[in-house]
Amino acid sequence: MDLLKEKIVTEGKVLSDSVLKVDAFLNHQVDPVLMQEIGKEFANRFRDKKITKILTLESSGIAPATMAGLELGVPVIFARKRQSLTLTDNLLTAEVYSFTKQTTSKVSVSHDFIKEGDNLLVIDDFLANGQAALGLIDIAEQAKADVAGIGIVIEKGFQEGGQALRDKGIKVESLAIIDSLENNQVAFKEEALR
Ligand code: G4P
Ligand code: NA
Ligand code: NA
Repeated sequence: MDLLKEKIVTEGKVLSDSVLKVDAFLNHQVDPVLMQEIGKEFANRFRDKKITKILTLESSGIAPATMAGLELGVPVIFARKRQSLTLTDNLLTAEVYSFTKQTTSKVSVSHDFIKEGDNLLVIDDFLANGQAALGLIDIAEQAKADVAGIGIVIEKGFQEGGQALRDKGIKVESLAIIDSLENNQVAFKEEALR
């Protein structure tokens, strides 16, 4: 997705060989126009999948997921990372290990909003090692819902998450795939013509 790649190049900051900072449009400040285009792109890539709901994770997954939900005409559910005063009953919970932070955290979704027969599109801002996506798939399985695919805004292709998820036979669509952040340069993976 050219608009996204342009944004990454002009407003992203390479912090190290493995970390890209995109606070200017995705992780802190949000660019609504870009987000709307991202939503349309996800919708186009999953339009034939009969998606019933979108499942994402707070906080940075919410903006792109919401725009995709608007385009596809389906509700958006975000898994919670913190305990909530009101979200206490009927919880589906998964453990998510972060290699980056070396911590395990719990993510939760109310069973009220994901049911057997749901056909979910999982969306997230970044795909690194894939642990967040696997946690959301775990929650979908607990609810006996299907996962029709995963939509990612920025995939770090040099980390193993994308390969691991695709090896499971899951359709993973990433709008920008980064091959390398070495030498302070963002190198994108060449995309096959679509
Ligand atoms: P994984 O789920 O793919 O295994 O990822 P990992 O544990 O490595 O990621 C932990 C957090 O760091 C996630 O955000 C993820 O989106 C983010 N992240 C990973 N790599 C990068 C990167 O290169 N750049 C940026 N900007 N973020 C990265 P989170 O803690 O869930 O935060 P948020 O959703 O509240 O923003
Ligand atoms: Na993030
Ligand atoms: Na995230």
